[in-house]
Amino acid sequence: MSAQKEPFGQTTDGRQIDLYTLTNTNGLRARITNYGAILVSLEVPDRDGNLGDITLGFDALDGYLGEHPYFGATVGRYANRIGKARFVLNGVEYKLAANNDENHLHGGVKGFDKVVWKLEDLKSESNKAVVKLSYISEDGEEGYPGNLACSVTYTLTKDDELQFSYEAQTDKTTVINLTNHSYWNLAGQGDILGHELTLNAEKYTVVDAGLIPTGENQSVKDTPMDFTLPMSIGSRIEQVEGGYDHNYVLNSGDGSLALAAKVYEPTSGRVMEIYTTEPGIQFYTGNFLDGSLTGKAGKIYNKHYGFCLETQHFPDSPNKPEFPPVVLLPGQKYSTETAHKFYTR
Ligand code: BGC
Repeated sequence: MSAQKEPFGQTTDGRQIDLYTLTNTNGLRARITNYGAILVSLEVPDRDGNLGDITLGFDALDGYLGEHPYFGATVGRYANRIGKARFVLNGVEYKLAANNDENHLHGGVKGFDKVVWKLEDLKSESNKAVVKLSYISEDGEEGYPGNLACSVTYTLTKDDELQFSYEAQTDKTTVINLTNHSYWNLAGQGDILGHELTLNAEKYTVVDAGLIPTGENQSVKDTPMDFTLPMSIGSRIEQVEGGYDHNYVLNSGDGSLALAAKVYEPTSGRVMEIYTTEPGIQFYTGNFLDGSLTGKAGKIYNKHYGFCLETQHFPDSPNKPEFPPVVLLPGQKYSTETAHKFYTR
């Protein structure tokens, strides 16, 4: 196991950015930067033992400093959408940036994906390699109340798991929903329509035209939304207007670390399982990728060339009292866990 640090460049205002590389004894390699606490790459073997990078993104920091759809990013203070970019807490209305038509998306104009995180810990032990990054989001940042001290810890284990742990504390009542926004492609190239997906979810949150939940949770049964049994992503995608971009209600939902999703890619044999303590998962099929971005090794990212499975609380929960709560009180500790397990078959 090893954990190493090297320079990755500078931000436009001259701040030093680093790249951390976690490697395990089977050769799995995760690279993370303190810019946006972004997962830059994840290399895992295929069934013949050949390593391949299974995430979308850029070779150099410059790509991440420019416009991009949250490749690999840590998203906060609130991942996904908050309707009409506002919510009320204790009778006070908080107004957020409307950066997705009239709605708020992924923490605002300058979310956690575009800030410089501080290195707290970088270490390797006999069974794991770890990098821990922290960030203090000030009271009023992007409209949110409370100074929020948060951290994300990436742990690569000797058993081929990449774990994401999030922690936070606030000094004023606030809302929080942290996730990782990696785009996966287990073949390492081409579109993701042939990947087989299983989701441990019998319901999803119905959304309006602006992708804000209506409050209704609908059964997936007998619809193209059903992934309770393995199904290729492309088999029914044409029947879903715009492609998949939905929050699934996980069957577990009791806060324990439970299996949420499993993805198998037949040509490479790679399998990715996702375990989470979160109640929901956003399944997004890269519908807005349009070939305008050139990523790693000159790859053009066309529509459906990557998919996201973002473990999370449900979109617009601050305005939906019927959804699992996202309020964090002073003195409380926010703590969530997601783990991706890799193997081949
Ligand atoms: C959202 C999509 C959005 C994408 C990139 C996903 O989490 O569900 O609607 O386009 O992030 O911002």
